[in-house]
Amino acid sequence: LTEDIPMYNFTVKSVIHDYEVQFVDKLDEALNNELIEGDFLIYDNKVQRLYAKYLDPFLSQYQSIGIDATEPQKSYQGVMPVIQSLIEKGFRKNHRLIAVGGGITQDVTAFIASIMYRGVKWVFFPTTLLAQGDSCIGSKTSINFAEFKNQIGGFYPPNKILIYPPFIDTLEVAEMKSGMGEMLHYFIVSGKDDFDMYRSLYQQAFSDKAALSKIISRSLEIKKSYIEVDEFDQNIRQVFNYGHSFGHAIESLTNYAIPHGIAVSFGMDMANFISVKMGFIPEQVRNEIRQVVEKIWDGYSIKSLDVRTFRQALGKDKKNIGTKLGLILNKGYGNIFKNVMEAGEQFDEWLFEYFDKQAD
Ligand SMILES: NC(=O)c1ccc[n+]([C@@H]2O[C@H](COP(=O)([O-])OP(=O)(O)OC[C@H]3O[C@@H](n4cnc5c(N)ncnc54)[C@H](O)[C@@H]3O)[C@@H](O)[C@H]2O)c1
Ligand SMILES: [Zn+2]
Repeated sequence: LTEDIPMYNFTVKSVIHDYEVQFVDKLDEALNNELIEGDFLIYDNKVQRLYAKYLDPFLSQYQSIGIDATEPQKSYQGVMPVIQSLIEKGFRKNHRLIAVGGGITQDVTAFIASIMYRGVKWVFFPTTLLAQGDSCIGSKTSINFAEFKNQIGGFYPPNKILIYPPFIDTLEVAEMKSGMGEMLHYFIVSGKDDFDMYRSLYQQAFSDKAALSKIISRSLEIKKSYIEVDEFDQNIRQVFNYGHSFGHAIESLTNYAIPHGIAVSFGMDMANFISVKMGFIPEQVRNEIRQVVEKIWDGYSIKSLDVRTFRQALGKDKKNIGTKLGLILNKGYGNIFKNVMEAGEQFDEWLFEYFDKQAD
């Protein structure tokens, strides 16, 4: 790890329990310092293969189970064998789960930690950009149900988060972009200055760790300021679903072939498109953001999605109220808001127009 990467540690206040985020520059040392008797590791198999040198000594010393980081793993069916293994191997209420992986490994571990023995401690080593710059804080623990995303879960933060930035070095480009796309929504929610900062660092972030860590730390900082006020997503935090209602529908229709943060990037553009239609923002704002999201989704297309099926999937969103759609829309940088509306024919026409003319 190079010297010029700022390392900063901070604490997140939580209704459930406060937790610390620590940046570490030596993985083996961090594992050595953190792990205690009784810990049970849940790790991403791909991460284990890539980082065997660091992880294997601990995997032979502690109980563990490897999972594949796929969306179907994030389900009752996927979680069951993990729970079975925990029970068979003598996992107890006073033991801890240690998650090593991205957002999927996090959601699986957090979900199990929240329900096993009415709650056990867990520690998280996030290994993707998305997990390091976003999902690791915020307490959410969702798994999917059938083809619908994040339908089951609650709030259950880890007891500690240990961020080892060099994990990012082995990510596929698409996973890098997914992390960049996921973090972008915080910068738009926060305001024009933050959006401009993100935009100016975007290209650099792919090769320059200092630029990337600026984006990661600011992303976490913005998120922290909201989740500490509205941890349970009842109020101001809901704006962070910007791009997500559309994004989740895209993930569901493509069978998760599009990485989450890339689907969210399409979703933000769709939210902006609807916001222009409804007179909330001028075209120019949408176009400025579009110049960034187009780079993120480059190589992916949603043009072939069936609009009616897409509309149905949108209807399953957690933020809907009765027959009304609860969409997070854009009234300008720093002015993202929740709009609850009866979405009729006009809305469907806009969707058709988007998929017909705008979706590539
Ligand atoms: N709980 C939350 O608050 C929250 C927030 C955002 C997203 N999520 C969820 O997180 C999931 C997406 O997370 P993600 O993007 O981290 O996905 P992920 O966990 O699926 O990881 C993406 C891919 O990267 C691989 N990978 C992981 N670490 C790697 C590394 N260091 N080097 C190389 N490859 C590596 C994985 O094996 C996988 O193939 C979605 O299911 C999303 O719903 C949860
Ligand atoms: Zn997300």
